[in-house]
Amino acid sequence: MIRHFLRDDDLNPAEQSTVLDLAARMKADRFAYTPLAGPRSVAVLFDKQSLRTRISFDAGIAELGGHPLVVDTQVTHFGRGESLADAGRVLSRYVAAIVLRTHGDDRIAEVASHATVPVINALTDGYHPCQLLADLLTVREHCGGTQGRILAYVGDAANNLSHSYLLAGATAGMHVRVAGPAGFQPDPDVVARAEKIALGTGGSVRALVDPVEAVRGADVVATDTWTSMGQEDDGLDRITPFLPYQVNDALLAHAATDVIVLHCLPAHRGEEITDEVLDGPRSAVFDQAENRLHAQKALLTYLLEAST
Ligand code: CP
Ligand code: NVA
Repeated sequence: MIRHFLRDDDLNPAEQSTVLDLAARMKADRFAYTPLAGPRSVAVLFDKQSLRTRISFDAGIAELGGHPLVVDTQVTHFGRGESLADAGRVLSRYVAAIVLRTHGDDRIAEVASHATVPVINALTDGYHPCQLLADLLTVREHCGGTQGRILAYVGDAANNLSHSYLLAGATAGMHVRVAGPAGFQPDPDVVARAEKIALGTGGSVRALVDPVEAVRGADVVATDTWTSMGQEDDGLDRITPFLPYQVNDALLAHAATDVIVLHCLPAHRGEEITDEVLDGPRSAVFDQAENRLHAQKALLTYLLEAST
């Protein structure tokens, strides 16, 4: 069976833990693992912009002994309407895995359903599961584990990061609270799925409006841009309703004294997070960014092994 990673809950709790353990080992001994030696190639395709995802997959595939093929889809037929099913079939003849950043989750699902190699979600409108593996690795490092820790995500609770925090956090046994203004609440189906997962892991899930209620006593406070890629011209006011959700010193005063702060980057400094917080002692943001590399190397290795 081919194992894809389209959503955070495509790894069950034991599998997620295995990937995070491997990521920690790969971080400690960075060049010791070469499962892509050959070199085997991996296609990394972007329908949207990227800095971290692009470079961390490119570098990570090279470190695994492989050959990264990083492509902006606008210069390919993929970006001008070629059948996604055909693209999935064709690319599978060339490469060991396909990494894709795209718009709708239906697009990546269509590629995956016709691919005969693992397909990895490098961000869609719905989810950003590779980011969450890096975030959970960071929480393990800074908080000594994930089980039972309180994670608050504040801001646009309807976006891809919010959904991934719900699913991946519940999978990791965390108490996940997401808070956003009315109209920017998570998809109820995602909340329901996360609740079901939490029942089995000892975690919990809450979707809130009040940012202070979300952050109270939190071990981890996370946020993200209030305007995701593709939402720039959606006609919604993406500033005013979000102002109470800014991660600043006043909001963090309600968190645990040893709280860490996460942001997937890029940040809109002065909007969803202040410079003082992002550059201050509670920020784990740059460890989090580094951990994209280690987590994705482990994920690729795991999926390739599990698929054979
Ligand atoms: N966090 C993240 O995915 O960054 P990029 O958009 O730069 O890849
Ligand atoms: N929610 C953001 C994350 C960027 C890494 C977006 O989709 O643009």
